[in-house]
Amino acid sequence: MNNWNHNHILDLSTFSLDDYKTVLELTTRFKDVHKSSSRKLPALQGKLITNLFFEPSTRTRSSFELAAKRLSADVQNFSVSSSSLSKGETPLDTILTYISMGADILVIRHESTNVPADLANYVDTNNINISILNAGDGYHSHPSQGLLDLFTLASFFNPKEVSTNSLLKKKITIVGDILHSRVARSNLWALTACGADVTLCGPPSLLPDEFNDFVLNPPPGQKIDPVNKRGIVCIERSLKDALRNADAVMTLRIQKERMQQNMLTDLDTYHEQYGITHQSLKWCKKKAPVLHPGPVNREIEISSKLVEANSIKSKLIIFPSPILSQAKRPSLGSRLIT
Ligand code: CP
Repeated sequence: MNNWNHNHILDLSTFSLDDYKTVLELTTRFKDVHKSSSRKLPALQGKLITNLFFEPSTRTRSSFELAAKRLSADVQNFSVSSSSLSKGETPLDTILTYISMGADILVIRHESTNVPADLANYVDTNNINISILNAGDGYHSHPSQGLLDLFTLASFFNPKEVSTNSLLKKKITIVGDILHSRVARSNLWALTACGADVTLCGPPSLLPDEFNDFVLNPPPGQKIDPVNKRGIVCIERSLKDALRNADAVMTLRIQKERMQQNMLTDLDTYHEQYGITHQSLKWCKKKAPVLHPGPVNREIEISSKLVEANSIKSKLIIFPSPILSQAKRPSLGSRLIT
C-alpha cells in the first residue's frame, strides 16, 4: 500500500493501473479470510465503519458490513426507514450525528450524483479525519462494484494469477440500460484502464452515441487521466454483433425507477432484442461468463432459465456482480453539505 494516495474512494476515473493492481493483490490476499479457523483478520481492529444508505440496497450494504466484520471493524448501519429523517432530521444532520460518534470510514449511497464527493470535500475542509467510500451516487459512480467486477473477471480469466494483465485485449460486452447505470460507468473506467476493449449495446434511448467518447476525457474538475493507454470503447446496436467473440458479458438491470416516459416501447420487445438468454450466449466465445450486478429483472434483461441454470450447474457461469450507472440530475449534495 506504499503508493496508495486515495483517502476517499469516490470515482474510478482517478485510479491508475497501479491502483487496480494493488486492489487485486489485496483482494486476493483477503478473499478467503472466512475459510481460516478464526474467520477474521485484525486489519481494521479498532476502526468504526458506518454504512449510510439513503437508497435501497441488498448486495452492496450487506457486502460492506460483512467485509468490515471479517476485518474486525466495528460496524454501524443506517437505513432511511428506521431513522429520524421521518421526524424532520436533514440528511446533513444525520451524517453529522454519525461523524460525531467517531466513524473512521463512512460508506455512503445516495440517489443524487456527487453527494459522496461533497461530503469528502466537507470533511477535508473541516479537517475531519474520515474516509468516504462511495457505494453508489445517482447515475454517476459505483466504484466498489467496478472493482468487484474487475476482480471477478481477472479471477475468471486467470485463477492462478489474478492480475490486470489477464484483461488485456479481452472483449467485454456490456448490455442494457447504460444511460442510468453507475455500474457501467465504473466498469468503463476500470476495464479500459486494464486494456480491455468494451462493447456497449442497447437501444439509443438507453445508450446515447456520446458513450463512444466516455473514457476519452476525464470528468469535469479532473485535469488528467491517470492511465496512459486505455482499451477501446465502441457501441453496437445489434446484440448479435455485440456478443460476437465476446470474452465476457455484463447485463444491466433496466432501471424503471430512473426512467422518463417513452424510453422503451415495451419490455417484451426489449427482452427479444437485448435479453441475455441461452440462445444469445451462443454468439459469445465458448464459456464466456455472464455478470449481473443485481437486483435482477428476470425475463427482461436476462432469462429466468439462465439465472436458474447457473444456480443448478456451473456450465454457464453467472457471477452476481455488484454494479450500475448515471445521468445528470441536480446535485442534492450541495444542499446537503452547505
Ligand atoms: N449491485 C448493487 O449495487 O446491488 P444493490 O443495489 O442490492 O446494492
